[in-house]
Amino acid sequence: MERHARGAALFLLACFASAARAATAIPDGLLPNGNFEEAPARSQLDGTRVTGRYAIPRWEISGFVEYIGSGQKQGDMLLPVPEGAYAVRLGKEASIQQRIALTRGAHYSVTFSAARTCAQAEQLNVTVAPESDILPIQTVYTSSGWDSYSWAFKARRSAVTLIVHNPGVADDAACGPLLDAFAIKTLQPPQRTKSNMLKNGDFEEGPYTFLDTAWGVLVPPLDEDDYSPLSPWMVLSSTKSVKYLDAAHHAVPRGARAVELVSGVESALVQDVVTVPGRPYRLEFSAGDAGDGCAGSLAVQAYAARGSVKVAYQSQGKGGHTRGALEFTAIANRTRVVFVSTAYNVKADGTLCGPVVDDVSLVCTREPAARRLLL
Ligand SMILES: *[C@@H]1O[C@H](CO)[C@@H](O)[C@H](O)[C@H]1NC(C)=O
Ligand SMILES: *[C@@H]1O[C@H](CO)[C@@H](O)[C@H](O)[C@H]1NC(C)=O
Repeated sequence: MERHARGAALFLLACFASAARAATAIPDGLLPNGNFEEAPARSQLDGTRVTGRYAIPRWEISGFVEYIGSGQKQGDMLLPVPEGAYAVRLGKEASIQQRIALTRGAHYSVTFSAARTCAQAEQLNVTVAPESDILPIQTVYTSSGWDSYSWAFKARRSAVTLIVHNPGVADDAACGPLLDAFAIKTLQPPQRTKSNMLKNGDFEEGPYTFLDTAWGVLVPPLDEDDYSPLSPWMVLSSTKSVKYLDAAHHAVPRGARAVELVSGVESALVQDVVTVPGRPYRLEFSAGDAGDGCAGSLAVQAYAARGSVKVAYQSQGKGGHTRGALEFTAIANRTRVVFVSTAYNVKADGTLCGPVVDDVSLVCTREPAARRLLL
């Protein structure tokens, strides 16, 4: 009894400590001139090429950077701009950067929109020192050509520099991604609740989503020791993402957010949890569709310890879900819970889609035998 009370007190303390730590400096939303609507002076443009290092208000550039107006042609393609009327394009080895004031020690996620122009394997190198990751942008998940990407970091200082660099996979200088709409959000590290051993089981805490974009936000694969925008969920893959969805634009099984597994078996959504070897556990989750036209036979496969379950869901593409469960016995003091979509699915417009996962819970189903004997 006393032990329980002390446990609860410690738990509450932990909650308050983290709430206090996460006070914000920069408000959530677009970065200053994050949508590039404040234009360079005409004298600092040579055609579309930006000539001055500080020509784009609030940003610093290096290398071949173009200032692109909506409706301008990129080769044969006519690309609309997702936010306002302007975007930038990074040529080979070019970069843009911005200084941001924030709260030291807090975690942030950055969301931005990108469209690739020619190469199949275009990449972006996103850095807030000392963290840096290469985000794959070769797979396009929208018919507009634009996807939103998220990336997270821990602020080691109260002023950091966000750098986005095109490492230049394509040799053609006229190739390179278009970028627009940079936003930031302070992430509140999710807490464990009494009824769920998994944190952020409902995916309510995640990257910034734009109110006016209907295509969700990709959460790219990262190294396991990097902070995930969906923490403590991680996306493990060599190049494939999952998609973070909001209820404003999608059917979401519970709450305001969910995850769509858009990359078949090529990417896994995982979370590690502390377990006791030999004890039985029950994993439950919703599997459904986002109401975004992803029709057909969808299936979510879940794994934990030596157990696995495949939950099939027949989708009309109009929203809906079913519940799946997996009983397993832990074989180690840490268990990795894994979700994958068993197949690639394709919408009528040719873009990739997949089943939605949401409302995931893990509970220990039985007190250990020794403890029961004592009671
Ligand atoms: C990514 O950019 C950072 C900072 O500009 C740099 O230190 C790092 O080497 C780059 N990584 C790659 C693979 O280009
Ligand atoms: C978990 O197991 C590993 C390897 O068996 C061991 O090194 C580690 O100390 C254990 N951790 C806990 C918390 O028991």
